[in-house]
Amino acid sequence: MGMGSDMYRQQILDHYKNPRNHGELDEKTYSHAGENPMCGDEIAIDVKLDDDEETIERVAFRGDGCAISQASASMLSQKLPGMSVAEMREMDRDDIIDMLGVDISPMRVKCAVLAEKVVQDGVEIYEGEKNLDKTSTEE
Ligand code: FES
Repeated sequence: MGMGSDMYRQQILDHYKNPRNHGELDEKTYSHAGENPMCGDEIAIDVKLDDDEETIERVAFRGDGCAISQASASMLSQKLPGMSVAEMREMDRDDIIDMLGVDISPMRVKCAVLAEKVVQDGVEIYEGEKNLDKTSTEE
């Protein structure tokens, strides 16, 4: 565990204690929620797309859960605006683990990817490609 890893650990704690973009968006294109059934932790995310419907404009989230799941949602809410919907859909767990900057044990990978799965399922539902009430990290 080097200095870099300590810095990232502190960054995760900071996002957990002071979540960015926490709450709801007044104007949103879609809203979706999900949970990690192993622990019951939940996250709901609102996304506002640009008028072109191709660029992410704003993201807000609320949730209840462990530091990794909440920090991941908070960091994602800062990373997504400006990205295209296509880029967001292509993100995978490795991108999330890179974003978090720490080693994630296999048991915690689901905590890390919960927000990503919610935001990606949300756009698929919005675009009529998927029919789902709630995202689960188990699927
Ligand atoms: Fe529940 Fe991390 S322990 S999402």
